Amino acid sequence: MSDNILVSAAAGVLEIRFNRADKKNAFTEAMYAGIVEALERAEADASVRVILLSGEGGAFSAGNDLQDFMQNPPDLDDKADAGPVMRFMRALSTTRKIVVAAVQGPAVGVGATLLLHCDLVLAADNARLSFPFINLGLVPEFGSTLLLPQRIGYHQAAELTLLGEPVDAATAQRLGLVNRMVPLAELQEAARGVARKLAAKAPAALLLTKQLLKSAAGSVPERIVEEAGHFARRLRTAEFKEAATAFFEKRAPDFSKLS
Ligand code: COA
Repeated sequence: MSDNILVSAAAGVLEIRFNRADKKNAFTEAMYAGIVEALERAEADASVRVILLSGEGGAFSAGNDLQDFMQNPPDLDDKADAGPVMRFMRALSTTRKIVVAAVQGPAVGVGATLLLHCDLVLAADNARLSFPFINLGLVPEFGSTLLLPQRIGYHQAAELTLLGEPVDAATAQRLGLVNRMVPLAELQEAARGVARKLAAKAPAALLLTKQLLKSAAGSVPERIVEEAGHFARRLRTAEFKEAATAFFEKRAPDFSKLS
């Protein structure tokens, strides 16, 4: 694992911290590989319920390392033995686990587009998101030409990607790219609090809810039937039994033994 990626686990939350502060956490190939390793570990470990992404040293990430891009352009072919960048995109965009991001300072390029694949995004008041690909003669990546117009509307997406100018945290929140804006000093604890709250939820119900939210295909009537099937099955689970019992016993539910 690269020293530039710090991984720790507590209370059902796997934290992945980008740790290359002198380069504003710009991602090298080794860092992508480190993140993939941690995401794969989270995917395989039932005790990990939530992944929390953050950056050390005043930045979230300045995006791909531009030296790397110039000297060692990544292999972006979609093949089984793909390089670390493609593997990173696959792992983050397909993880079943809930992903929370805590963003401070710059989130540039892939540092911003990766947020579109997170479930909840908390931003410090000093966060600045930018999609500057056009300014580098590049194009947006990581599904963002689909996801950005879907999330924030075509004209806003066009402004972010055609002008390539940064937006501050308040604007990002207004656009819907960020759930909550918090004072910088409170960011990490606020994000940990949200991650731990999620990690205490009924685990299988949490995974299913994300799966339903992320599955794009189908009509509303089809989705109603699909949800109803899950709902009926969930009424017979230990998770529902614990939640309903806890309600009547006037206590908080404890899902920690369930997976
Ligand atoms: N790749 C490689 N090095 C990077 C980098 C990147 N993406 N982003 C920042 N750095 C390096 C700088 O070269 C500088 O290194 P140095 O101290 O050896 O000169 C160091 O990180 C600090 O960056 P600096 O620009 O001085 O910090 P800043 O706070 O003024 O600005 C950014 C921060 C992120 C806004 C600015 O560095 C930037 O725009 N970076 C490029 C982002 C980018 O285009 N990413 C690729 C998108 S595809």
